[in-house]
Amino acid sequence: MSRSFPQGFLWGAATAAHQVEGNNLNNDFWQLEHAAAEHGVEFSGDAVDSYHRYQEDMRLLADAGLNAYRFSIEWSRIEPSPGKFSKAELAHYRRMIDTADGLGIKPVVTLHHFTHPLWFGERGAWLGKGAVEAFSRYVEQACTILHGVEWVCTINEPNVLALNHGQLRRVAEGKEYQRVGALPDTEIGEALIAAHRAAAPLVREATGAKVGWTVANQALVPAPGCESRYTEVQQVWEDMYLEPAREDDFVGVQSYTSQPVDENGVVPHPEHPDNTLMGWAYRPDALGIAVRHTHDVVGDVPIVVTENGIATSDDQRRVAYTGEALRHLRDAMDDGIDVRGYLHWSLLDNFEWGRWDPTFGLIAVDRETFERHPKPSLAWLGDIARANAI
Ligand code: FCB
Repeated sequence: MSRSFPQGFLWGAATAAHQVEGNNLNNDFWQLEHAAAEHGVEFSGDAVDSYHRYQEDMRLLADAGLNAYRFSIEWSRIEPSPGKFSKAELAHYRRMIDTADGLGIKPVVTLHHFTHPLWFGERGAWLGKGAVEAFSRYVEQACTILHGVEWVCTINEPNVLALNHGQLRRVAEGKEYQRVGALPDTEIGEALIAAHRAAAPLVREATGAKVGWTVANQALVPAPGCESRYTEVQQVWEDMYLEPAREDDFVGVQSYTSQPVDENGVVPHPEHPDNTLMGWAYRPDALGIAVRHTHDVVGDVPIVVTENGIATSDDQRRVAYTGEALRHLRDAMDDGIDVRGYLHWSLLDNFEWGRWDPTFGLIAVDRETFERHPKPSLAWLGDIARANAI
């Protein structure tokens, strides 16, 4: 039985600047890659040179039948030093928007996807004095090139950002890096919520876009008898970031896997032959859990699936995972949840934050020549988009 999606549904794929552009040498992650090289962290380097090849990337997406592309603009390029903005870099991102328009695809633009300029880090990053003002000043400049863009995400996965920066903070304070059971740092989380609350109205007023942020959803479930610990963990992991989304135009759901919560917290993924190249449990049903939980917290705010996908070298497995995830999504929609789009992570195999081996892409890339090689999953998802049905 074919099951259709609402008219105008966004069908697309996503990327993030630092993971695909290459040579973002003025941001904190570039610095971290070099500092942590002895721990086996790999370099982004040229990444997949999408900074120069974005036209080809978007054309492949559009030719396959998809109608939306989520990408991020890189703060460290636009504001290389405090208060000094690069007109040329702003124009670069405007060209990306124009390219999407020309190909008939909707740009979904993220203003902050994990990275910030070095100078922002030197001022204490999100906990530094004036962080919200600095972010707002950048956002105001970004708005000068966003006219006509319908969907804008302020900050990507504030909860994962608070987790990662929380760990860096611990290490800076002489504490150990927690490999298991770490939770997002709530103080950093509060700072990100303040930044989002300041930025969202600026974007809405300047551009008329629908504005939201995109939250990492772990599809957490309580282990038997562990409901109260689950509620605590859920609050710190997700709900404190979903609650501010009640004031937004949409909320982004990002889902990959699911985990139980027991008395000790989030249970690590047990070793299993089905685990993905990230070491995560193979759980295509996670998307349904994530969308339903998000709806429970945000109420009637529309949802866009801004990331969902699988790190695998077996493209048939990507198709199987995604097909099943889409069925769970459609089930949640049948139950009355307002979902406006599905953006697959990722358009391209890319730099997975210190690792190159977890391949999430619908398109493979030769990292010597930068040649793009679409995988069968790209055409498969494009066919679904054209039919607007599964
Ligand atoms: C999310 C990130 C994205 C990518 C995927 C696998 O946490 O937003 O950049 O790394 O996971």
